[in-house]
Amino acid sequence: MSDGKPPVAPQNAPAGGEHHGKPADRCVMAIFGASGDLTKRKLIPSLYHLAQKNLLPKEFALLGCAIEKISEDEFRKQVRADLTEFGEAPDECKFCDWLIERTYYAPGDFKDPGFYQSLKPTLESIDAKHGTGGNYFYYLATAPVLFGEVVQRLGDAGLTNQDGGHWRRVVIEKPFGHDLESARGLNREVGRVLSENQIYRIDHYLGKETVQNILIFRFSNGIFEPVWNRRYIDHVQITVAETLGVEQRGGYYDHAGATRDMVPNHILQLVSLTAMEPPVSFGADAVRDEQAKILHAIQPLAPEDVLTRAVRGQYGDGEIDNQKAPAYRAEANVAPDSNTETFVALKLSIDNWRWADVPFYIRTGKRMSKRVTEVAIQFRRAPFVLFRDTPVEKLWPNLLVLHIQPDEGISLRFGAKVPGIAVDIGPVNMDFRYSDYFGNEPSTGYERLLYDCMTGDATLFQRADMVEAGWSAVQPLLDVWKALPPRHFPNYAAGTWGPKEADELMARDKRSWRNP
Ligand code: BG6
Repeated sequence: MSDGKPPVAPQNAPAGGEHHGKPADRCVMAIFGASGDLTKRKLIPSLYHLAQKNLLPKEFALLGCAIEKISEDEFRKQVRADLTEFGEAPDECKFCDWLIERTYYAPGDFKDPGFYQSLKPTLESIDAKHGTGGNYFYYLATAPVLFGEVVQRLGDAGLTNQDGGHWRRVVIEKPFGHDLESARGLNREVGRVLSENQIYRIDHYLGKETVQNILIFRFSNGIFEPVWNRRYIDHVQITVAETLGVEQRGGYYDHAGATRDMVPNHILQLVSLTAMEPPVSFGADAVRDEQAKILHAIQPLAPEDVLTRAVRGQYGDGEIDNQKAPAYRAEANVAPDSNTETFVALKLSIDNWRWADVPFYIRTGKRMSKRVTEVAIQFRRAPFVLFRDTPVEKLWPNLLVLHIQPDEGISLRFGAKVPGIAVDIGPVNMDFRYSDYFGNEPSTGYERLLYDCMTGDATLFQRADMVEAGWSAVQPLLDVWKALPPRHFPNYAAGTWGPKEADELMARDKRSWRNP
């Protein structure tokens, strides 16, 4: 493109392709870990999707950094292949050409201070060439052990300094720490170099439209908020079930487990968005203050509570979609006698006026029966007066389900008269499907997060206090489970809804999981 501007998006973009955003701030995006999976599958395709919607600034450049000693041309070829394979870009693609024209590569060892010294002139020359105004953001898609060190070295090389009217930001991938203590340590480490408003801790769940929609649904509609509390709500169930196993990530997962991998971050984000008070504005700190209050209000589990309010599981072999699935202990890079949990269920209490005595049941697991992420709000049953002769199981309580994925939408269940002479009540659903209204736009879920980072909006990123509050909520589980190794692993078959103890957890409260 000779004038440097991104090509203009076609007017007849697919349904939902209309946007009203402006291009982000001019900047260079430097990806650390540019040869990794995240870069290929998510970051590069997201940049393409942003370019398609004219949301990338015309003064933009991309610098890939990785240990591999490949040439700039080779990296560009790789990026083009990723655009086609993971971004579904056509062979003839003007947005891809535009992006590749401003793509550079810097090989190096992230532990070597010399690398950062050489990065400085590289960035300066890219900046001068593309008019990016000295604004850089560094995306740390590296191994988590390197997060602190890379930030430290960027700082030592003067690359995080914001004097002179430009900005410098660092995006840090998950996991942010391994437990409460290490998260605190990492916060301290990066806090010595960066101010909080330069740090963008990613939780990719917040990039999902349906997760963001929890806020919109609650606070842009007048009819739900008045009943969104302990007077009307019986309990909340949050399920994040995956059919996949650990794939190629056994090495990481076997040290992390389901609790660390999913709960302090993704699941507690869903909890806090569902439970928070209305913020005073949609400003980053206003929203995050309210989320943080919920995280702090989660009652810490006493060690004896862990035994009654939490369940762990590990999958044995089984069948999913008529295909045999191996046991967790037989997966690549997993210890054959591993005691790592691949399933966790937990009953949480939120200690505040809105939610006192309303349990939040959460569960997540690998190799479960169905891939589904949802937040189900179960309302209290109607009183019996009018329906004295109706068996209680026929009086279905209202249920509002926020379907996060894969079927994105919202449904509300209520009771209706079954046609006929007798008074018989049956449950019916009012359903809203995203795809019916807004079409299906290709998206990796990272587009919004990258755009927000380029525009300096940290609303959808985790603040230091939130990360620590998330870890505080799960730390008792980690401690008790470490001290008491599980005795009956594996305790659920692949392709099921988890161990029977998870059903018992609910049954003790005379409730049951909604297994969609
Ligand atoms: C990641 C976890 O953060 O989220 C994975 O490390 C998990 O184990 C994934 O599979 C789930 O994300 P999504 O977007 O597929 O629901």
